[in-house]
Amino acid sequence: MAIVSRIIGTGSHLPDKVLTNVELSKMVDTTDDWIIDRTGIRERRICKEGETTSVLALQAAENALEAAGITAQDIDQVIVATTTPDSTFPSTATKVQAMLGMDHGFAFDVQAVCSGFIFALSIADNAIRAGQSKRILVIGSEVFSRIIDWTDRTTCVLFGDGAGAVVVEAQEVADDQKVGILSTHLHSDGKLREILYCDGGPGSTATTGHVRMLGREVFRHAVTNLAAVANEALEANGLEAKDLDWLVPHQANKRILDGTAKKLGLREDQVVITLDRHANTSAASIPLALDEAVRDGRIKEGQYVLTEAMGGGLTWGSALIRW
Ligand code: UT7
Repeated sequence: MAIVSRIIGTGSHLPDKVLTNVELSKMVDTTDDWIIDRTGIRERRICKEGETTSVLALQAAENALEAAGITAQDIDQVIVATTTPDSTFPSTATKVQAMLGMDHGFAFDVQAVCSGFIFALSIADNAIRAGQSKRILVIGSEVFSRIIDWTDRTTCVLFGDGAGAVVVEAQEVADDQKVGILSTHLHSDGKLREILYCDGGPGSTATTGHVRMLGREVFRHAVTNLAAVANEALEANGLEAKDLDWLVPHQANKRILDGTAKKLGLREDQVVITLDRHANTSAASIPLALDEAVRDGRIKEGQYVLTEAMGGGLTWGSALIRW
C-alpha cells in the first residue's frame, strides 16, 4: 500500500468589479483590439478597498471545503501561494487559518509568483506522502491590482485579482494504483530576475514596488520552459501527451497557451482557459481554472490533468494529476 495525495474539493472566488479592455483604453494608450489580439484577455476582476488577499482566499477555501464535504476542523495545514500578502508579516496563511476558526495545525505562505500554486501543491504532496499531514488546504490568492503601475500599458492590461483553492487529502491505495498527484516538477533560475520583478520590497526600499517586465523576453522563456516541464511530467510517469485529458495552464497569454498545447499535440478544446475573463491572476490562475472545469463537469474522476506555470524568479513547474 502507498499514501497518495488526492484533490477532494476545489473552490474559487472573484471580486465583483469587472474592468474591461475598453475601460482600460480610457486609462492608458491601448485598445481593446490590441489586448485581445496580443494576449486573449477581454476583462479582469479588480478588488475594491478592504478586499484583500486573505478575504479572497477565505471565500475560495470555504467553497473548496464545502465541495470536499468537510470543515476547517478536518484540515491540518494551510498553504497560501501569493505575491500580494495582506502584510509583510505575519503570513496571509496564518490569517486565513484564524478566519477559518482553526486553533490547530499550521499555516504558511509560499512565494513563487505565478508558479506559486504549483510550488505549494508540490509542498503539500510531499507533506502528505511523508505522513506529516492528512488534509491540506492549498490556496492561490492574489490582489495583483495593488502592485501594478496603472500608468504602464505594457503591464497593467495583463493582470487581475482572484483566488482559487483545493483540498488535498492523504489516501491509502494499492502500490500499482496510479491516482491523485502523480508527480510535481519544480525549477527556478535566479539569474533571470531582471526580466520580471517588483521594483520594491520591505527589505530594500521599504515600499511594495510595482511589477516590471520585459514581456518579449518572458514570452520567449515561457514557450520553451513550459513545454519542457510538461514533457518532464509525462516522461516521469511513462505517459505521452495523447494520454492527457486536460491541460490546465497558468493563464498568462493565449498565445503562450496555444503554443504549449501545439507543442504537446493537444487539441484546443483540451485546454482549460479562463484568461479571457480573469486575465493573469498569478498564483490564483490554476486553481481558478481547475475549479471552473471541475464544477462544469469537464474534469472527471480518473482523467489525466496536467498543470504548468512560469513566473517571476524565474520559476516554473508542472504537476500531473490523475483526478
Ligand atoms: O505570468 C508571468 C509570466 N508572464 C508572461 O508570460 C507574459 C509574457 N509576455 C507576453 O505575454 C507578451 O510579451 C506581452 C503581452 C506582454 C506583449 O506582447 P508582445 O507581442 O510581446 O508585444 P511587444 O512587447 O513586442 O510590443 C509590441 C508593441 C510595442 O510597440 P513598438 O515598440 O513595436 O512600437 C509596444 O510598445 O506593442 C506596444 N504595446 C502596446 N500597444 C498597445 C505594448 N503594450 C501595449 C498595449 N497597448 N497595452
